[in-house]
Amino acid sequence: MKSPIFAANWKMNHAPADATAFIRSFLANFGKRQDRSVIFFPPALSFGAVVGALKDRPDIQLGVQNIHWEDKGAFTGENSAPIARGAGAKYVLVGHSERRHVFGETEEQTGKKVAAAVRAGLTPMVCVGETLAQREAGETEQVVLRQLRAALSTISSAQAADCLVAYEPVWAIGTGRNATPADASAVHAAIRAELHRILEGGSLAVPILYGGSVNRGNAADLLAAPEVEGLLVGGASLDAEGWASIVLKRSGWLSRLSFKAYLRNHSRTAMFTRFLVILLIIDSIVLVTAILLQAGKGGGLAASFGGASSSSDSLFGTRQAGNLLTKTSWWAGGLFIFLAFILQIASSRGRAAPTSVLDQAVGTPPAAPTAPATGTGSQNVVPLQTAPATPAPAAPAPAKP
Ligand code: PGA
Repeated sequence: MKSPIFAANWKMNHAPADATAFIRSFLANFGKRQDRSVIFFPPALSFGAVVGALKDRPDIQLGVQNIHWEDKGAFTGENSAPIARGAGAKYVLVGHSERRHVFGETEEQTGKKVAAAVRAGLTPMVCVGETLAQREAGETEQVVLRQLRAALSTISSAQAADCLVAYEPVWAIGTGRNATPADASAVHAAIRAELHRILEGGSLAVPILYGGSVNRGNAADLLAAPEVEGLLVGGASLDAEGWASIVLKRSGWLSRLSFKAYLRNHSRTAMFTRFLVILLIIDSIVLVTAILLQAGKGGGLAASFGGASSSSDSLFGTRQAGNLLTKTSWWAGGLFIFLAFILQIASSRGRAAPTSVLDQAVGTPPAAPTAPATGTGSQNVVPLQTAPATPAPAAPAPAKP
């Protein structure tokens, strides 16, 4: 499998100060690594703050959530691809479902935006996805592939080979209802086959990401699905620790067994805390066993070690054995208090780093979506309707300089 891509689409969340604090906290949990890519898509006005916060981490990439299809001109409120490039963006989301369904962006416009992005040296992440009605009508593949063709129709096949695609079913975005890994895989395979046709065979370089209600609970399973090469995450990318735990996820059984990966993915504090917990458990077992043997309730246990009667003396046979048990209880009790005390200090000194992917048992109930509430409910909720049939009104011509 190629190294996975984890993209955070913050949408209209995180003002510059929040964005800076988020990146600091994320970086504390996520060291440099070669085996995965991370891309942030912050809101335009927080973009500069994120660039500043990431200045020592060139391994983490940045993109913008939207661009206009013109390079410059009288388009109040818009940003162009060259402006985004100049601000430090490498990627741009094009055709996101909220652009299509909330702002009425047409397929023709997504094509023009892809062309503008490529002209300016930005890499488009082309988002495609069907509504619930389209899925129920059996039109998923037809809709998704039509959107894909329209988006890539404005560039050459060599340029298309450098793009990224994100499959994001509209009904899954911000709803807490993700596509199953099998459903995602099936659509990804159809996208791959279409890319193969469009790119005349050279489609393998194009990563296809899945997006739509991805969270800590389902990320590993989705990532393990065939053809899913990354995740585009909205709500669950808004909390730094939660996002780090998703980014540290890995698909495949091998990573479960990788001690190196475990060391890489956990902070020293987290590993020390776990070590203390294991010691505490062992100590508790010793303590309880010693007490049971002393109280004579460990007769069965004693017998299993070769003692003839049910008394602990029968196991050891002498008064010294009783003394040994008493001493063991005292030591184990003292150690228990000491370990509990150290554990308390260790856990208050820093929260454990997010666990690696497969530390989470498969089948862990998905965490509730973390999108913050807005006045109108979730910021992600998109009306389940298709894009307007009529193209959006033509934009005014740019003012002559
Ligand atoms: P979500 O959003 O993860 O909140 O569903 C994904 C997206 O819109 O890209």
